[in-house]
Amino acid sequence: MTHSRDVVQMEHSWTNARLATMTDDGLGLIDDGVITSANGRIVYAGPADGAPTKAAKTTDCGGRLITPGLIDCHTHLVHGGNRANEWAMRLEGASYEDIARAGGGIVSTMRATRAASEAELVDTALPRLDALIAEGVTTIEIKSGYGLDTENELKMLRAARALGERRRIRVAPTFLGAHALPPEYRDNGDGYIDLVCNEMIPAAAALATAADAFCEGIGFSPAQCERVIEAAQAHGLAVKLHAEQLSALSGSALAARHGALSADHLEYATDGDVATMAAAGTVAVLLPGAYYFMRETQLPPIAAMRRHGVRIALATDNNPGTSPTTSLLLMLNMGATMFGLTVVEALRGVTVNAAAALGLCAEIGTLEAGKACDLAIWDVTDPAELVYRIGFNPLHQRIKDGQ
Ligand code: NIG
Ligand code: FE
Repeated sequence: MTHSRDVVQMEHSWTNARLATMTDDGLGLIDDGVITSANGRIVYAGPADGAPTKAAKTTDCGGRLITPGLIDCHTHLVHGGNRANEWAMRLEGASYEDIARAGGGIVSTMRATRAASEAELVDTALPRLDALIAEGVTTIEIKSGYGLDTENELKMLRAARALGERRRIRVAPTFLGAHALPPEYRDNGDGYIDLVCNEMIPAAAALATAADAFCEGIGFSPAQCERVIEAAQAHGLAVKLHAEQLSALSGSALAARHGALSADHLEYATDGDVATMAAAGTVAVLLPGAYYFMRETQLPPIAAMRRHGVRIALATDNNPGTSPTTSLLLMLNMGATMFGLTVVEALRGVTVNAAAALGLCAEIGTLEAGKACDLAIWDVTDPAELVYRIGFNPLHQRIKDGQ
C-alpha cells in the first residue's frame, strides 16, 4: 500500500453539511452534520449538536452533501498505448475473442506496455488518474497484467506505486500476472502459471497488496487460477478474481472458497456462485463500463446478490480493451440504468463496499471517527443527483487525509 506523505495538521471542521456517512445499511444521512479532522483522520462525524466545540479552522459547507472520498476498486489504469484501432475493427464486425485469438487484445497492450519505460507508464497514466481525482476519487486499485513477464509485471507495479507519490491518492496495487498468455508461452499455459507462481509472485509480493487472475476461456482455467490463488496467499497477498465475464466457469465460487476479497464482472455467475460468495463475504465488483463497451446482454445476477446478501461494489475497470472510461460517476449512472441498482446500492458500491473489496474497511469507505479523512464535497444536496446525471461532475472539493 502506498500512501501520500504523512501529514501533521491542526484540527479542521467542515460544518453546515449534509453527510452520507454510509455507516448504516443505507446512506447514513445526517442533516446539519459536522466532520472534524486531526492529523489526517476523522475525529468526529455526526450531527452539529454533538460536535466538538473548537477547531483551529472551520469551513462552512453551505448545506452541501459530503460523501466518503470515492474508491475505484478495479482498474488497469497503468498500460501502454490504446486500442482504438481494435475498437474500429469491432465496429466492423470482429469480436473481442476473434481479435484476442489473432494476437490482438491484451497481447497488443502487452507489446506497448513492454516497450514503455516505467516513467512513460506513469506519465501516460497521469491524465487518466487526474480525471478520476477530479471526480472525488481518493483511493484507486491499479492492476499489473500487461507485462506478462517478471521484469515488466514488476515495472507496472512500480509505476502504480509511483502514481501514489505523484498525486494525493491512495493506491492499492494488485498483481495480475495471470491476465493473458504471453506469446513466449503459446500452448504452454501451465508453464506460464509455473512462472507466475514460482518467480513472479515471490517478487511481486513486496510491491502489491493483492493478486488477481483472469478466469476465462481466453484467460486461465479454474485449476490454473487456483494455483495462482494458493501461491499468492502463501506469500501473504489477498486475492481477487476476474470471473464469469464471458462464460460460466464458477471462478467466483472458487475465489470465494479461498476467501477472496472480491470476484469481479460476474455477468455469467449462477445462483450457486452467488450463494458461495455470500457465505464467504466475498464482494461482487460490478463493471458496467465493460458490460456497456462489450455490448454484453447477459446481466449480472443482481436479484440473487440481493437475496443472498452479497455486498456489491462498482468500479470503472479502466482498461484499453473493454472499458476505456475514466468516470466513476458515469459508472454510478450505468450501474443504475443498466443493472437496476438503487441509489443506495450504487453509492455504497463506490464507498463502503469498494473499501471491502480492497480489504480496507478499517481505513476508508465511511465517514466515522478513526478513518482517514477522505471526503468528497458535492454541489448537490440530494445523493440521487450523483447517480442521476450523465456526464456531469458536481464535485465542489476533494479532501485527502484532511487536506
Ligand atoms: O477487466 N477481462 C480481462 N481484463 C480486462 C480486459 C483487458 C483488456 O482487454 O485489455 C477486463 O475487462
Ligand atoms: Fe478488469
